[in-house]
Amino acid sequence: MNKIVIAIDGYSGCGKSSTAKAVAKDLGYTYIDSGAMYRAATLHFLNQFLSPANPHDVEKGLKSLDISFHLNPETLKQETYLNGLNVEDEIRTMRISNKVSEIATVASIRKELVAQQQRLGKKKGVVMDGRDIGSVVFPDADLKVFMTADLDTRAIRRQEELLEKGEMVELDAIKSNLSERDRVDSSRSESPLKKMPDAVEVDTSNSTFAEQVGKIVHLARQIIDKQ
Ligand code: DC
Repeated sequence: MNKIVIAIDGYSGCGKSSTAKAVAKDLGYTYIDSGAMYRAATLHFLNQFLSPANPHDVEKGLKSLDISFHLNPETLKQETYLNGLNVEDEIRTMRISNKVSEIATVASIRKELVAQQQRLGKKKGVVMDGRDIGSVVFPDADLKVFMTADLDTRAIRRQEELLEKGEMVELDAIKSNLSERDRVDSSRSESPLKKMPDAVEVDTSNSTFAEQVGKIVHLARQIIDKQ
């Protein structure tokens, strides 16, 4: 059967990653979390005391940056590694969420990560989520989805996720992080987040997780069947 490329973009915290993961599982595809790559790059710059505003630091940071994904054999979950170390939990903390948009505005960092993402998607049969997947990484993606949800819904979901990982964060702090990231991600000059004209909008504010996954899988199967 022909394999396709599915690009899922959208605002912070509207369930892109968990939805994309479930869609990939259903189709037997590979899931790639592009946001995890920007998060891992952010952790690297923080750990190395490198400033994204300083071109020399950026060059140094990119030279020593090695991001990879590995399947955890016990949980069967894909985890992010930075220079050989498992950073899956650390990159999801608020410390990283508060810094990641700044890293994601730097053109040379984006160029490097986009090239890696394009290599990962070369064989097709991938679901990738992010902000510029349908516009820059895979402009020819077979299916483009733009996910949205209202801010309150997104903040409550994010708070639950953080709590599951043992981090208690006030709802207002989460809301301001999400809206600030939306603002920076949508207004930056480098690959801003925007809905592509050929993307299907999926608003998850009032749908269950199973409904939103089902909708995307259905759209994907229609395209696969036509090929
Ligand atoms: O999907 P996420 O919330 O884990 O992404 C973290 C940040 O990375 C997000 O605020 C913007 C940036 N990002 C991006 O600029 N381009 C992508 N393709 C994915 C994420």
